[in-house]
Formats: sequence, C-alpha cells, structure tokens
Amino acid sequence: MEPNRQKNLRVVGALVVAMSVMIGLVAYSPTLYRLFCAATGYGGTTQRADSAAASVSDKTVTVRFDTNIASDLPWRFEPVQRDVKVRLGEDKLVFFRAENLSDKALVGHATFNVTPDKVGLYFKKIQCFCFDDERLEPHQQVDMPVDFFVDPALAQDPDTQDVSEITLSYTFFRTADSEKAKDLSRFLVSAPPDPHRGEELFEQRCTACHALDRNKAGPALGGVFGRRAGSVPGYNYSPALLASGVEWDQDDLDRWLADPRGFVAGARMPIKIPDATTRRDIIAYLKRESIEETAPLQHSASDAVPQHASLRAPK
Ligand code: HEC
Repeated sequence: MEPNRQKNLRVVGALVVAMSVMIGLVAYSPTLYRLFCAATGYGGTTQRADSAAASVSDKTVTVRFDTNIASDLPWRFEPVQRDVKVRLGEDKLVFFRAENLSDKALVGHATFNVTPDKVGLYFKKIQCFCFDDERLEPHQQVDMPVDFFVDPALAQDPDTQDVSEITLSYTFFRTADSEKAKDLSRFLVSAPPDPHRGEELFEQRCTACHALDRNKAGPALGGVFGRRAGSVPGYNYSPALLASGVEWDQDDLDRWLADPRGFVAGARMPIKIPDATTRRDIIAYLKRESIEETAPLQHSASDAVPQHASLRAPK
C-alpha cells in the first residue's frame, strides 16, 4: 500500500507543477507574445524604435487607422484622424480617443497589428499605449498618443516597395485583473505631472544621447533645472546654444523639447517631442532628478567629463 500511495502522490505533485506552468504561460502569454513579436516582427506586429529614422524620403504612404473593441468592454474607442499621409522616415504623431461609457472604472489593454502583414517590419512605433493595462474612470475620455514612422527601407524591399497604404488597427480588451493597471488619465493634459512615467519615457526617448551623470552624444542632464544652457563642462555645445542665454525652467524645457531648433535656431539636438503630456512627464522627471541631485559625478572611463565638476551651472 505505502509505496503505491507515495507513487500516487508523486504523480499528483507532477500534475500540479505541470498545471501551474501552463497557467503561468497563459497568464504571461501577452508578454511572451509581445517579446516574440517584437523580436520577429511576426504577424504584422510592429517594431519598436527609440527615435525616428535618420533620413526622410520623398515617397509617401497613407496610413489608415482602425479600432475595435471587445463586446464586454463598454468603451468608445476611435482614431482621432481616419488616416494620415506620411513620408517614409517622417515622425508622425496621431491620437486615439477612448471613453468609458459606464459608471465604473474599467481596465482594458490594447493589442495592435499592421496590414499588410509584410509591412509590420517597417512600421516603427516610438511610443504607444499598447499592451499596458489601462484604467479609465467612469465617463472619462482621453486621447492617447501614438508616435510612429515608416522605415524608408520599405521602399527598398522588393516585397513591400509597391505598398502605398498601410492599416494600423487596435483592439481593446477588458482586463480582469486590474491591480497593476495604469491610469489612462496620464494622457490628459490636465493630469498632474508624473515623474515615474517621465523616467520611463526618458529611457525610451532620451538615453540614446543623454545620461543624467555624464556626457554622451548630448550633454549630461542631471541638475538641468535652473542651469544655464550650454554650461556642462567638457561638452562641445553648438555656438547657438552657448549664446542663447537660456536658463532652463519648465517653460523653456517644454519649448525646447517640442522643437529644439525652433526654440534655439542653430541648436544641434535632432529630435522633437511633439506630444505635450510626454514632455510634461519627462520634465517632471528631470526636475525631480535636479532637486535630488547631490551626489558627486560618476566617472566613466569612456567619457570626457571632468570628475570634479558639479553639473550645476555656477549661479
Ligand atoms: C539623437 C540625440 C539626442 C536625443 C535622442 C536627445 N537629445 Fe537632447 N541634446 C542632444 C544634443 C546633441 C544636444 C546639444 C545641443 C547643442 O549643443 O546645440 C542636446 C541638448 C539638450 C539639452 C540642453 C542641455 C544643456 O546643457 O543646455 C536638453 C535640456 C536636452 N537635450 C534634453 C533632451 C531630452 C529631455 C531628451 C529626450 C526627450 C533629449 N534631449 C533627446 C541630442 C539629443
């Protein structure tokens, strides 16, 4: 009897383990699917990019927007613009509007795909609301930004060079487990600045060229708040920024990020952040870091920043 019973227990144990693994896989499958798709561009999923393409071509494509919503999620969800015409490589900001039609807060998450499928590889999103669990308060409405470009390589690929129209479609599903949901209200212009979101956005949009504590392609940004423009030691600024006389505050940073060369003609920062809530949160993050910044500079062998200097400009 005894050995038999032990054997049964072992079988039950193995089954429990196997089932937990399966449940785990199902629970995490959006993540797995995303990782898989992000890595392969499979199934019309799009690629993630840190910043827009270096070159903009004259060839244009029309991008249409399509939205769907699962029947158990009482939201309205629609593109703010039906379609846009973009030049290949051109950074484009579009919005999708979601409204909670019900009397309770609800959480949803979006998936997207691009058709024709073969174009997925060339459709690059710099920023979007996809995959996160998103909460909408009762009857709240928000416009969610999607920042994208179509890779000019589209025109070189014999498979895709004839494509003149692309459809980006989103589907919102209801999320049962709403513990970890983010508030979609972060996209409201009236929402309070969110330095946490700002930190994530900084990672995505700025760290290609900036760090807080050292110079990279762009100057170190720790302590930028209240600092004179062009004052990080050891960084080779454009004459235009050096002569600008700007002292970085909320307003100036906002105008700079919206359009650096519009704000300081001749400046060298090559990107723009067209979405106002993105700028707001990145600035909130920089502000928080500027206030907290008391530690001395980290020295990194590959960088030419002198170790002694505080990044704060002398007043
Ligand atoms: C592709 C590279 C690149 C990216 C990405 C980039 N920057 Fe810059 N940034 C620069 C360069 C280059 C300069 C110096 C401009 C000059 O000298 O005219 C600069 C300068 C700045 C300055 C002025 C700093 C000073 O010391 O006066 C600020 C502020 C700034 N960037 C913020 C940002 C933020 C915030 C982001 C992310 C949203 C960002 N940048 C993304 C390249 C970049």
